[in-house]
Amino acid sequence: MADKHLVRIADWGVTEQTVIFADDFVLDRLPSNGDILDIGCGRGMFDAKAARYVRSVKGIDIVEEEINIARQLHRHIPNLTFFVADAENLTAVEGQFDAIFSRFCFHHLNMDKVALGIREKLKTGGRLITIDCLEDYWKLSGSFFILLDATKRLGVLKMLSLLPRLLFFFTPKRFQHVKSDIARIKAEGRYHFLDFKEFYLKYFPEAEIGMIGCAGYVDWIKQ
Ligand SMILES: C[S@@+](CC[C@H](N)C(=O)[O-])C[C@H]1O[C@@H](n2cnc3c(N)ncnc32)[C@H](O)[C@@H]1O
Repeated sequence: MADKHLVRIADWGVTEQTVIFADDFVLDRLPSNGDILDIGCGRGMFDAKAARYVRSVKGIDIVEEEINIARQLHRHIPNLTFFVADAENLTAVEGQFDAIFSRFCFHHLNMDKVALGIREKLKTGGRLITIDCLEDYWKLSGSFFILLDATKRLGVLKMLSLLPRLLFFFTPKRFQHVKSDIARIKAEGRYHFLDFKEFYLKYFPEAEIGMIGCAGYVDWIKQ
């Protein structure tokens, strides 16, 4: 089971609405005609896009409320399904996949457990692509980067309509959560890029690991 404090603080869909981040980068790397698993899919905004390019997409998230919303939002997309599941117990997820994708979720997770599940759930030749927060994301400059990026994409009016939820990013409640995340990922060595690289190479040797905006990515093929 994931740490309790992380599960309690669902982000109320803020991320999915504003941090539509690096979509093209990932879409270019997904196998067309493949079956894809998205770990920590939230409301499935990325998955709805990906479903246009691949055979099927399955999104999982530990927060039931988010999965219910995702199902409702994307009910008209036939090759897209959503399930409540814990990423730390991927064995319980049905199927095997040509690619596993995850964005801004792995910092919540115990990678010893998740890496085992990924190896089990990926077909041979299957591809893992994960994007997660680095140092810059956690700083105030990261919040501005995301606000600017989202405003460019969504426009000022849409951003204003999201204001009540965006304010959540600046509440003491969130910062309590963020601080505990930062402390943990610093201790685990996945805060600075070079540490992030070393951390993921332990689990996925020979992966391509790089930076994209305020995040790091891992791109690995199961041999
Ligand atoms: C920051 S949001 C990212 C959502 C989405 N991937 C995106 O990029 O817009 C992180 C998501 O990870 C989910 N999550 C956290 N711990 C999880 C776990 N153990 N198993 C599955 N999902 C989890 C949260 O509920 C949340 O929806």
